[in-house]
Amino acid sequence: MKHKVPSRGKQVKMLAVLTAVFCVGPIWIGTTGKAESGNKQFSRGKTVYVKYCAGCHGIEGRGDGYRILGADPVDLTSPSIKQTPDSALLKSIHEGKPNMPSWKLRLSEEDRRNVLAYIRTLGNKNGSEKRREK
Ligand code: HEC
Repeated sequence: MKHKVPSRGKQVKMLAVLTAVFCVGPIWIGTTGKAESGNKQFSRGKTVYVKYCAGCHGIEGRGDGYRILGADPVDLTSPSIKQTPDSALLKSIHEGKPNMPSWKLRLSEEDRRNVLAYIRTLGNKNGSEKRREK
């Protein structure tokens, strides 16, 4: 009996798709948020966000990513999120929500802060940031 390696071709295809997603994502987002790109926390947060969060929350945080679980991922640019204190959002990211997985095993404390710093900049170009620029 010959041993067959199961669906090698499929694995390669999966890898190609994942690579495409992770490479194109940052380029795309790079064109939307360049104002703060000098900030290290911001850029690390952006990397984490694109990798782990954008799939559900959408590349711009508006909750328009894939609705894997059927529930609407929160619009991270909404006024209610803007008004929620960092400590509460960090807790949600750490522990998860009924419809969002917990990130405590995947993200370090530092990366959670980085990603939150990034989330705080989402949507700003249409909001307070823009008004301040004028
Ligand atoms: C599997 C899809 C999915 C992924 C991936 C995901 N989220 Fe969520 N997120 C949700 C959903 C759905 C909600 C709404 C939660 C609820 O009401 O149960 C949510 C809610 C939130 C909230 C609001 C919590 C609150 O207190 O109201 C924050 C902040 C958040 N997500 C951040 C993140 C961050 C940061 C990441 C990446 C590390 C991430 N999410 C990845 C689906 C996702």
